[in-house]
Amino acid sequence: MNADGIKKYVFGTPFETKAVVNDVGVSADNIPYLTLRDDNRLVLYTMGESDKVYGLGEAVRGINKRGWIYETYCTDDPMHTETKRSLYGAHPFMIVDGKETFGVFVDSPARVTFNIGYTRVNEIVIIVHSPDYKLYIIEGETPNEIVKKFRHLIGKSYIAPFWSFGFQQSRWSYYTSGAVQDVIDNYRDNGFPLDAVYLDIDYMEGYKDFTISGERFPDFKEFVETTRKNNIHLVPIIDAGVKIEEGYDVYEEGRDNGCFCKDENGNDFVAAVWPGKVCFPDFLNEKASEWFGMKYKRLIDAGIDGFWNDMNEPAIFYSENRLETAIEKISAYKGKNIGVSEFFGMKDIVLGLSNSQEDYSAMYHNVNGEMICHNNVHNLYGSSMTRSAADAFKKIAPDKNILMFSRASYIGMHRCSGIWMGDNQSWWSHIKLNLQMLPSLNMVGFMYTGADMVGFGDHCTEELALRWLALGIFNPLMRNHSSAGTRDQEFYRFENRDAFRNLLRLRYALIPYLYSEYVKSIENDDLMFKPLSFVFRGDRYAEAVEDQLMVGECIMIAPVYEPNAIGRSVYVPEDMFAVRFRSAENYTVAPYAKGHHFVDIPNDEVVVFIRKDKALPFVAPADCTVNLDLDTIRFIGEKGTAFEYTLCKEVGVKNGEAVIEKKKITCKID
Ligand code: GLC
Repeated sequence: MNADGIKKYVFGTPFETKAVVNDVGVSADNIPYLTLRDDNRLVLYTMGESDKVYGLGEAVRGINKRGWIYETYCTDDPMHTETKRSLYGAHPFMIVDGKETFGVFVDSPARVTFNIGYTRVNEIVIIVHSPDYKLYIIEGETPNEIVKKFRHLIGKSYIAPFWSFGFQQSRWSYYTSGAVQDVIDNYRDNGFPLDAVYLDIDYMEGYKDFTISGERFPDFKEFVETTRKNNIHLVPIIDAGVKIEEGYDVYEEGRDNGCFCKDENGNDFVAAVWPGKVCFPDFLNEKASEWFGMKYKRLIDAGIDGFWNDMNEPAIFYSENRLETAIEKISAYKGKNIGVSEFFGMKDIVLGLSNSQEDYSAMYHNVNGEMICHNNVHNLYGSSMTRSAADAFKKIAPDKNILMFSRASYIGMHRCSGIWMGDNQSWWSHIKLNLQMLPSLNMVGFMYTGADMVGFGDHCTEELALRWLALGIFNPLMRNHSSAGTRDQEFYRFENRDAFRNLLRLRYALIPYLYSEYVKSIENDDLMFKPLSFVFRGDRYAEAVEDQLMVGECIMIAPVYEPNAIGRSVYVPEDMFAVRFRSAENYTVAPYAKGHHFVDIPNDEVVVFIRKDKALPFVAPADCTVNLDLDTIRFIGEKGTAFEYTLCKEVGVKNGEAVIEKKKITCKID
């Protein structure tokens, strides 16, 4: 894909976000489609009645983004209700598809507002909250073509290790090595496949990054080694804030070498997160970034080969200054008969302590000697943290493809990491949100992604767990993660263990297909998860579908996301062939004609729709990815189907990146 049809415009002196790698020259043409207000910070477009809008990566609501107002501003907010404007990632790329079809990328590390038919139903208003930014307009015949051009512009996505396509179990927290072992044993004893277990913040000593609690995880290195022998990877969390504590070497090194973000007076900026008071490494400063990245070596030396970077928006519980003001304000009410507005005002004072704009505006980065206010580059913090680790991994362990995903992100980070969808809830609506975010994230380059399956916050039910699993088996990052204080949700906790086992094993049977489609979509700058509207152009029903996805070249999925359902309505956009899996070994097939159908889907079954003239490759399931027999591929499909399938295999690692081998397999079903 070349850069034809991409136009670039520069306003002010933009901060280098590193989002773009295959850049184009500044265009001399007028900006097409959009009208800019005189100050260049406000963009207008009038949509046609039935125009659709795609993109914006990690965001609430549907695949079609029309009808809401979104802001790209990395935000730590676990309540992903439909009225939220921002989540953890900032992905300011969108596509308008209708009377005119074009893409818009506002490359700005500051807040950008996308009002997409919210104030006036047919109007798009984009407000860039900084005078310094780059604007790219991407032209193409179809949304898919625009995505491909955009993805070429921003460079190839990170390829996660093959083992990370296995099922992964997490919880905040498994407090001791004994608790971790117990989880592993329960999965193995029940015949459930498993490839990784996560270590949340309590593996550390007092939430201090790069420490390990000697009391709860004695002989850590040995423990990591033993679990690896059992084909389990342990994946520890790394938080952005470094605990302020005399004698803690990471803190002292950071302080003594000027590696932390500053306040207005040039002192280290201090705020509170899990460990209490912390300093934030200045990841936008090259020296500080290199310093922090190399700290991962301690864990890599102990045998760790996967990490998740968290709280890197950065999340702030409170800062000293603001806490003092809040306490003062609230104390003034002591002994008084306070009215309703004061009461609610008090609540707002407390809630407003976290992640406040005032704190972000009082924090500074040292970029090549220039002090830059954090608020103007806010969206780059999590990405820069993750890039600092990725750069270090290549030096520390070039022979390993280390798994990494982050909570906060900006476009560009997709080249070195995945993301997870943050702190969702055990809500039915969040199964649908998980589905809808997959294509939007693919549009902005995040291919290794998934939601906290079964939901992070709130209590789940067995039925929800099973239905979520039926979607989870298609997510590249397939991780069951939950918050402390919620109902235990490891799959062996539930009654119908056979059903959970069958679906988990089905995932493993499908891994060669999912991994191959994942790798090929990265290589082709394409989406692995496509909305039906991207494929079946001109079919008004397909274009309106919000709860089904095309997954790779061969299949369509239509998961159930409502309680007490016996099945669901499915729009079949062309003649297809459905496989009804009760397990990887027990399935039936049936043709489905193009049109609307009600499909019975009991909660222990998964129905996959195979595209016309395609078939679904699969293998025998195994207890972990390394034991999958990738040389014995079989196909499910309609009799008479013949086509050539390209299978991708990870055969090694070079310079920290996966080496992939491709093999063409002829499929003939007779
Ligand atoms: C944040 C993370 C969550 C983690 C928790 C404790 O909320 O998003 O995944 O479990 O912190 O570390």
